[in-house]
Amino acid sequence: MTAMIETANVVKHFTTKDSVVKAVDGVDISVAEGEVLGLLGPNGAGKTTLVKIIATLLRPDSGTAHVGGFDVSNVAKVRPLIGLAGQFAAVDDVLTGRENLEIVGQLYQLGRKEAAKRAEETLERLSLADAADRLVRTYSGGMRRRLDLGASLVGQPTVLILDEPTTGLDPRTRLELWDFLRELVAGGTTVLLTTQYLEEADELADRIAVIDTGKIIAKGTADELKERLGGDVLFAAPVNRSQLDDVIRIVGALGPGDPWVDQRTGEVSTPVPNRIEALLAAGRQLEDEGIVLRDLGVKRPTLDEVFLALTGHAADQPDVGDVDGSGVSS
Ligand SMILES: Nc1ncnc2c1ncn2[C@@H]1O[C@H](COP(=O)(O)OP(=O)(O)OP(=O)(O)O)[C@@H](O)[C@H]1O
Ligand SMILES: [Mg+2]
Repeated sequence: MTAMIETANVVKHFTTKDSVVKAVDGVDISVAEGEVLGLLGPNGAGKTTLVKIIATLLRPDSGTAHVGGFDVSNVAKVRPLIGLAGQFAAVDDVLTGRENLEIVGQLYQLGRKEAAKRAEETLERLSLADAADRLVRTYSGGMRRRLDLGASLVGQPTVLILDEPTTGLDPRTRLELWDFLRELVAGGTTVLLTTQYLEEADELADRIAVIDTGKIIAKGTADELKERLGGDVLFAAPVNRSQLDDVIRIVGALGPGDPWVDQRTGEVSTPVPNRIEALLAAGRQLEDEGIVLRDLGVKRPTLDEVFLALTGHAADQPDVGDVDGSGVSS
């Protein structure tokens, strides 16, 4: 298999008047033709910076990046291969959805007729046909995201780069977009997808690279990463805080190390190798000791928990705090 995207030891600093930030710090990633790589990391990890380097929008300080075998400094060769849906919608508010897509088509030098045809097909495919002739200003957040994605598709790119495609969307719209993205990747497009959600990488990506403060700290399939964490996560919370120590003891004994305790919610959790066994054992033992539970279950690990396991520290999320609602970092 040939690598469609390949970076070797890419480094990028940003210098502001009082500090130097090493946004990307020696990153090696490789995405094979037809593969979907999920780049998973918290706010400020360096995802967008790396994406911009690969998309020829930013030059690396050192290291190399290739797309389709061309060095990204060869902008004329690389640009036509790439479709980019950025983190912040690039569509124009004062145009209609259709006009936006037609303009993108013309940027790809498609000729008027062909651009109109592709715009029509893309709108259809994204379920935006009914809203095609409305100003984008009147679109909902989810519709804008879809249109933005559409703009990255009009040129029928070989490589699609999606920077946090569903951040800020409500759960239903996110699921719809996932369905759409799954269809798209089934068509064989090579995709680099950044996300803050382990679940999203899990749903869409063949392989995941975890990035933290500019460095890749882990690579593998979702299952491999979860295995490194020790599997799914068992959690239990007592109704009465006076029983928290008992819950910590019982839940802790079912996992490999010290359990995590969220002091805010009173939830105790630990990775467990076998979800059913762990859940049954916890239920039995907690009941035997007369502990009244507010909550008990097993869940997929959150990004925070993966980070805790991989780095020993919580994912730092300065902008939005506890994005996945796990509360582990607090
Ligand atoms: N133009 C810039 N000037 C100065 N610092 C920058 C610039 N762009 C990014 N940074 C810094 O580089 C680091 C990486 O930023 P980047 O935007 O790549 O992160 P990210 O993983 O995309 O985060 P998010 O999930 O919030 O989008 C951060 O510390 C950020 O503040
Ligand atoms: Mg970003």
